[in-house]
Amino acid sequence: MTDAPLCRATGLVKEFPTGRRGLLGKAQTFRAVDDVSLEVHRGETLALVGESGSGKSTTARLVARLMDADAGRVEIEGQDVSALSGRALHGFRGSVQVIFQDPFSSLNPRHTVERIVTAPLAYQGKRIPGGARAFTRNLMERVGLNPDFSNRLPSQFSGGQAQRIGIARALAVSPKLVICDEAVSALDVSVQAQVINLLRELQAEEGFGYLFIAHDLAVVRQIATRVAVMSRGKVVETGARDQVFEDPQHEYTRALLAAVPRIEPEWDARRRAAEERRRTATAQTEATR
Ligand SMILES: Nc1ncnc2c1ncn2[C@@H]1O[C@H](COP(=O)(O)OP(=O)(O)O)[C@@H](O)[C@H]1O
Ligand SMILES: [Mg+2]
Repeated sequence: MTDAPLCRATGLVKEFPTGRRGLLGKAQTFRAVDDVSLEVHRGETLALVGESGSGKSTTARLVARLMDADAGRVEIEGQDVSALSGRALHGFRGSVQVIFQDPFSSLNPRHTVERIVTAPLAYQGKRIPGGARAFTRNLMERVGLNPDFSNRLPSQFSGGQAQRIGIARALAVSPKLVICDEAVSALDVSVQAQVINLLRELQAEEGFGYLFIAHDLAVVRQIATRVAVMSRGKVVETGARDQVFEDPQHEYTRALLAAVPRIEPEWDARRRAAEERRRTATAQTEATR
């Protein structure tokens, strides 16, 4: 154990070609991720929010090393993983797992649940403790799936159940950091709540950190410990969940919150009170000028 945070990303930059050329014929690029720094601590959930296209998924891919950054570094428990390759990169793949939005497109449709959840271990060349069948049954129970269905294919499950298979697969390698990229966004509200509860229970048991990406602020409010707000490739605000929701500091965060349709009354009241205080403070500052 070290004092270093579970995950620390510093100054991440990722540019993509725009497909256009500048005056001198040079290919133009734009920065999808522009100097992003963030930390995720053990046992906490850092929610990354922001409108579509703000760079959340690209940030997730950089942190998980599914994509190489143009600049910046990622450290896991103080170890720089930015330049890992070969065996060391394989080892790292176990410590950071990603759960994506669409369970069906991230699960091989021709593989059974057993093959899917044991694949990461097989890929890492690890022995499966207790054998594949018992290991799979145990994981399925932990994520609330009937263990008798370990030989079924993804298409034989509902969306919520399929997402649980994705969660089981992530759990199989005992990750330290789990990145959920819109992992519950495609699910019905009631199923969403169940999967969020499962994610929280597993976190309490395992102590891993979540980097939880979601555009739905009602969901974020349920699960986040802290919130980082992204806009146009930059993190514009980071703070404790209640602070960000009730007293947002950045203009963009306020606009984002104002656009939420389902707002809880007490949260709304606190936010209005904070806004009122800010207005009064501004008015006072201006009056004394
Ligand atoms: N592989 C890619 N090639 C080119 N542009 C990309 C690629 N991935 C993402 N982008 C662009 O980068 C920006 C940020 O995308 P993304 O990280 O997916 O945002 P978010 O997850 O917040 O919606 C968008 O403008 C998107 O079109
Ligand atoms: Mg995205």
